[in-house]
Amino acid sequence: MTTKDAYLLGRDHLKAAGVHEPAIEAEMLLRFVLGIDRAQLYTHWDGTIAAAAWEQYRARLDERAGGRPVHYIVGEREFMGLLFAIDERVLIPRPDTELLVEHVVAWVRDHGGSRLVDVGTGSGCIAVSLAHVLPHVTVYAADLSPDALDVARANAARHGVIERIHFVQGDLMRSLPPDLAGRIDAVASNPPYVPRDQAFLLSREITAFEPEQAIFVPGDGTEMHRRLIEMAPRWLRPGGLLAMEVGAGQAPTVGDAVEDAGGFDHVALLPDPVGIERVVSATLR
Ligand SMILES: C[S@@+](CC[C@H](N)C(=O)[O-])C[C@H]1O[C@@H](n2cnc3c(N)ncnc32)[C@H](O)[C@@H]1O
Repeated sequence: MTTKDAYLLGRDHLKAAGVHEPAIEAEMLLRFVLGIDRAQLYTHWDGTIAAAAWEQYRARLDERAGGRPVHYIVGEREFMGLLFAIDERVLIPRPDTELLVEHVVAWVRDHGGSRLVDVGTGSGCIAVSLAHVLPHVTVYAADLSPDALDVARANAARHGVIERIHFVQGDLMRSLPPDLAGRIDAVASNPPYVPRDQAFLLSREITAFEPEQAIFVPGDGTEMHRRLIEMAPRWLRPGGLLAMEVGAGQAPTVGDAVEDAGGFDHVALLPDPVGIERVVSATLR
């Protein structure tokens, strides 16, 4: 069997299993098993695939056909141009979240700032990207999950920014060092925001494999945002930024909660490239 035959059989297997992007994912799994990049795949295209590699590939295809997300199988996901190691202890970073990072980066470049917080760091994709793009900043990366913090630490080490990220285990910002109160320049967060009673709307890939604690919240999904809005003034310096990712349709509710809290200026709902308001941003008065 040639590499091309293996790819075509894999693609058809994933397609039959209802995988959304069977061609892309069959190629990813094949490259993963063979340990080669895309250019090498095409140069090996008509070569014979070794029996052991074919068995490995079939096993990965079966895992994928069984619903396990391809990024957990290959153990990596790209975010802000960096590769993050991931597994089932953390949410798979989403391209949507790059808007939040880009906003915080632009704000820090415009307004200055050297102490940032990432609440609910998961894989560390936000904290590590901020530390990577802004070489002068220190980031405090908080998560309730010790397992997630282990993954985030590994990613910080992988990208050479571990000396500038402090990992903090605890509820939202409660475990930050008390002497940081009033001295944080920006708080970024992509908190869990899917209402628990809407779990049935999500695919099994998400509900069966991604950490529940990273996705669901009770009520309308804005509880974490509301708690962040309440907590942030203790930590932010005057004029400091609070930027939170929100679910589709939640931005007006979260924006109103910021306005109602008082004490914030420049409340803005930022749309993603397809026009969905994805980030609520405000500065402490
Ligand atoms: C939506 S995931 C975001 C992960 C990562 N920042 C990203 O954007 O891909 C939310 C994260 O918040 C964490 N989390 C949930 N509740 C929390 C809480 N009360 N305090 C701190 N972190 C929490 C979860 O463990 C999870 O890692």
